Amino acid sequence: MKTYQIAIVPGDGTGTEVVREGMKVLNAVAAKEGFKFETATFDFGGDRYLRTGETLPDSAIEEFKKFHAIYLGAIGHPDVKPGILEQGILLKMRFALDQYINLRPVKLYPGVETPLANKRPEDIDFVVVRENSGGAYTGMGGVEAKGTPQEVGIQIMKYGRYQVDRALKFAFEIAMKRKRKKLVLCHKTNVLTFCGDLWMRAFEEMGKARYPQVERDYNHVDATTMWMVKNPEFYEVIVTENLFGDIITDLAACIQGGMGIAAGGNINPEGVSMFEPIGGSAPKYTNQNVINPMAAILSGAMMLDHLGERQAAKRIDAAVTKATGEKLMKSQAAGKMGMGTTEVGDLIAKLATA
Ligand code: IPM
Ligand code: MN
Repeated sequence: MKTYQIAIVPGDGTGTEVVREGMKVLNAVAAKEGFKFETATFDFGGDRYLRTGETLPDSAIEEFKKFHAIYLGAIGHPDVKPGILEQGILLKMRFALDQYINLRPVKLYPGVETPLANKRPEDIDFVVVRENSGGAYTGMGGVEAKGTPQEVGIQIMKYGRYQVDRALKFAFEIAMKRKRKKLVLCHKTNVLTFCGDLWMRAFEEMGKARYPQVERDYNHVDATTMWMVKNPEFYEVIVTENLFGDIITDLAACIQGGMGIAAGGNINPEGVSMFEPIGGSAPKYTNQNVINPMAAILSGAMMLDHLGERQAAKRIDAAVTKATGEKLMKSQAAGKMGMGTTEVGDLIAKLATA
């Protein structure tokens, strides 16, 4: 039987609960479609860091390379200074495994509440391709005269043409597969004259030469946030640099119903990819059976899609559509689903295998 090796990193807080429900659903659809998973669980996260001082050792990166994919719950611990786990685990994994695409589908499922008045599921259905390896995230820069009134902080946004090109290629390929073949580049070319110009020229060149079927458009990042709220139906696929992508995908997650339902993938098309819900570890909800596992379940569906198990992925998407649309979960936030974490997992596993 076809077997996929999955590295599971539950992480902190509610991460354990949501990946448990995710694996429940993944195992159920796998059995139905005739394949299976073999998993190994890794305890990287806040507790381990507090115990051992270790975040994510290089040996773990080598270990991860032996798997077909990584499935992660959440990273973030109330007793650990902000930044340590984010940089030491999450960003280290993304960078060391060169997961250069952060793929964030934005889809309003039926029955899910959006804060946008008069917007329906057909209006909110697009994908953000966030470049995940460069920009302001590379740690370039420095500090002068720290702690004095003369202190200066420098943080550099850096992009190589190859980084821009590989992200654009990924985004154009996704646009080719969508109903509306439309790709919007989001940047700030009016101010970021070096990086913005690089992205813009690369976008135009690649679009003209290789993807003439794809309609191209450009939005400044500030305008993007406005259009996303006013007219999210404009968007089909958005491609953007790392930091802008970070910011606009929180807004995007919000208009699709919140962190409880927002899924993501950190993708290296030539290597090992990692799938994670966009939300954090929500420590105050740990082990209360109230956290919404749908974001983790949908991230699992993205993992299936990435592994080439499209039928199984579609089963999960259809099950979530049915669950939100017909099973009376009024809101998707923690504690307000009208159902517990495990019950949501059970329900989706059942619907996905019906
Ligand atoms: C995200 C997060 C991370 C990021 C943080 C935790 C480093 O906000 O996945 O969007 O900025 O990429
Ligand atoms: Mn973010």
